Amino acid sequence: MQFQTDKTEHLNYLRQELALYEEEAASANNLSSFNATVDLKIGKVLDVGCGAGQQLLPFSRMNNVQCFGLDVMAEAGEIFSDFFSLSGENVSNVAFIRSSGEEIPFEDNTFDVVICRVALPYMDNKKAISEIGRILRPGGRLLLKTHTPMFYIGMMKRRIRDLSIKQMIYPVICLIGGTWHWLTGKQLKGGLWKGKEVFQTTGIVTREAGESGMRVVSEETSSDREAKSYIIEKSYLCNLIAAYYYELDVLFLGLFVIH
Ligand SMILES: C[S@@+](CC[C@H](N)C(=O)[O-])C[C@H]1O[C@@H](n2cnc3c(N)ncnc32)[C@H](O)[C@@H]1O
Repeated sequence: MQFQTDKTEHLNYLRQELALYEEEAASANNLSSFNATVDLKIGKVLDVGCGAGQQLLPFSRMNNVQCFGLDVMAEAGEIFSDFFSLSGENVSNVAFIRSSGEEIPFEDNTFDVVICRVALPYMDNKKAISEIGRILRPGGRLLLKTHTPMFYIGMMKRRIRDLSIKQMIYPVICLIGGTWHWLTGKQLKGGLWKGKEVFQTTGIVTREAGESGMRVVSEETSSDREAKSYIIEKSYLCNLIAAYYYELDVLFLGLFVIH
């Protein structure tokens, strides 16, 4: 993963995210994901690829809710602890676990809410979604935020503008790998694609969630079209819809190419 190659850069990134969250929280309602769970009975919440774990904050303020942040980077653990200590919150109900999103060390049906905010692009999508489907209880919700193809197109444009021609190769590789994943359902992992990100589309998310016993109940695109947020619920009767959505994705691509 790109995040694992430069630890200082990663640490700086997390600190920036933390500052941004505090700024947003001070000026506006930053609880839109949290609001999507107000009708649920919540006892346990997990943030997969948590970084600083800022999305857990509103849950940590609830009575009798246990919050877990999981991240593969040890540095995320440091920032996570700093964040919750500095926030002045009661930290007794918050814990960090160093682990990968592809192998989540919890039993089946443990969590009422799982958060995964812009972390799926760095993971083996199928494995991570399947793990989330396993540890989420039926009726529980996944609050997912992903990168759209526009994120990498935007990255490419910015790098062309800055004349970082060498750096431009990275988003191009991500776009090719993401397109392959989109069309075939398989993520490229070796060679050039080792540790590279992939984008997600509604088709991919719906299909992979469906295969893991979950269904998309709502979605929202960010104003810059570079990210998309989904509310996904664990249920039983969704595999058919997932397959249908994937076919539609492929059909639209075919029509686009012919056109
Ligand atoms: C872009 S950051 C997002 C952090 C946080 N969710 C947020 O919204 O600020 C992606 C995070 O995913 C973590 N990550 C990458 N690959 C992972 C994996 N395989 N398992 C668990 N975490 C992973 C990174 O260490 C990083 O903290």
